[in-house]
Amino acid sequence: MRKIIVIGSGLSGLTCAIRLAEKGNKCLLVSPYPSERSQSVMAAGGINAAIGKDDSVDLHIEETYKGGCNIADIEAIKGLCNDAKDIISWLESLGTVFTKDKENKVALRAFGGQSKNRTAYAGSSTGKQIMTALINEARKYECADLIERKFGRYFHSALIENETCYGVVLYNDITREIEVEYADAVVVASGGQNALFGKTTGSTLCDGYVAAKLFTQGATLKNLEFIQYHPTTVETSQKRMLISEASRGEGGRLYYLDGEKRVYFMEDLYGPRGNLMPRDIVAKHIYDAPSQVYLDISFLGKDLIEKRLSEVKELCSKYMGIDVTKESIPVYPSVHFFMGGLAVNKEHQTNIKRLYAIGECASQYHGANRLGGNSLLAAIRSGNVAADSINSLESVNESIDFNEYINKQKESLNINLESQSKFSAIYIRYEIAKIMDSCLGITRNEEKLRKGIEDIEYYINVSEQLNFDSDVSFYVSYSLKSLLALAKAILLSALERKESRGAHIREDYPTKEEEYSKASYISYMNNSYKVEFVKE
Ligand code: FUM
Repeated sequence: MRKIIVIGSGLSGLTCAIRLAEKGNKCLLVSPYPSERSQSVMAAGGINAAIGKDDSVDLHIEETYKGGCNIADIEAIKGLCNDAKDIISWLESLGTVFTKDKENKVALRAFGGQSKNRTAYAGSSTGKQIMTALINEARKYECADLIERKFGRYFHSALIENETCYGVVLYNDITREIEVEYADAVVVASGGQNALFGKTTGSTLCDGYVAAKLFTQGATLKNLEFIQYHPTTVETSQKRMLISEASRGEGGRLYYLDGEKRVYFMEDLYGPRGNLMPRDIVAKHIYDAPSQVYLDISFLGKDLIEKRLSEVKELCSKYMGIDVTKESIPVYPSVHFFMGGLAVNKEHQTNIKRLYAIGECASQYHGANRLGGNSLLAAIRSGNVAADSINSLESVNESIDFNEYINKQKESLNINLESQSKFSAIYIRYEIAKIMDSCLGITRNEEKLRKGIEDIEYYINVSEQLNFDSDVSFYVSYSLKSLLALAKAILLSALERKESRGAHIREDYPTKEEEYSKASYISYMNNSYKVEFVKE
């Protein structure tokens, strides 16, 4: 029986574990927090599938490719869109209750960058409904000893030899000890890099460390410069809350005030579907608007709002004291999704054998800009594809001695409360977020990016003398160096792409250039970084 370790228990990780267990594999699902706390639970909008009367898979493929500004792997996109219908059926078979239309078919709403209503949803809580169904399904396999869920564990590093992954080192946050797990394959499903930035719409538990550490261990990263700003978010004390694109899908209108007069700028520029242009375009127009931009959904009526946008209503009332049935919502673009991540092949295997990446931490389908509703789809599809591929692997039959490496990691975690650095790890984490926010906003330029790289390099040097902080989890300390390497890799990728495309808008290179109609790949060896552009 194969043993597989899945790092991350959100939608893609759970899907992969279930699919592997269905095929009789033993799967260990590890994460700091349980699936119920994953970012996937927060997904409100929906999941795309071309199942509407006048829609087609070809159109879904075309719009996904175009929305990503023509650089994603078209074959991978075809797989994604082709599988969508079966994925919806699978979710229904597990008990996900999608909202239905008058004919009792799965109701579909309009989302950005798509000419047809293509986004299936479960009221205002699609992610939560899907996750609940999957958690129940996983329990079935837990009872059969095919899935084991271990929480309170942080990824530490992978056991890699001869460009092959043989398992992982984990850090148990409760016992403060290192644990080692060997496996026939390791699947990374660790989400995006939200916590590397300041306030974002994503979970603060997703900081990109797993991808960052693997990068320093030889895994290639891809398209890091493409960071999606969701056009409509609101500020709260902890984070940015998402005003789902569903609000505009249902008819919500963006405007700013010119004196007393409302200017519906997206409709003026792009016509009736202007509010639903792809996110990169809407976010840039909001950023450029001469005054505060508002979203008005009040005219949709209380009934529709309560039925289909109840989450938007609740969060605006709770966090901002706004009654959206009467008032407009002031909105700002914020970091929401990372199109870049671990580079994978069509089977979702990284450049390291037996090491897979799925969900948001993998870069595969979205090119320079993701369409709303395609992330839940990609999370599930990537979990399926990786599970199929792993299921055809031979079990590992050689035994590699990792004892020296493991002992070294244990020693490096010995507590030394006398910090030699004048900065604490947590302070540097805040500094990284400030640097990333200021250099990787909606627009970028060479001067800012070079300054950001210089600042990150300063902290890379400082972190050489850093000992563990006594007042924070060890994880914050040991993750720091890799997070700094990832931050530098993102900035370098953004510096090297000398054009504007999708979510990467360069003030100094304002147009799209044919020579960059490629994906960017970045690799790391002995503290040096190499960026290459490759046509998919
Ligand atoms: O606006 C939203 O509901 C977000 C959906 C998504 O990112 O796919």
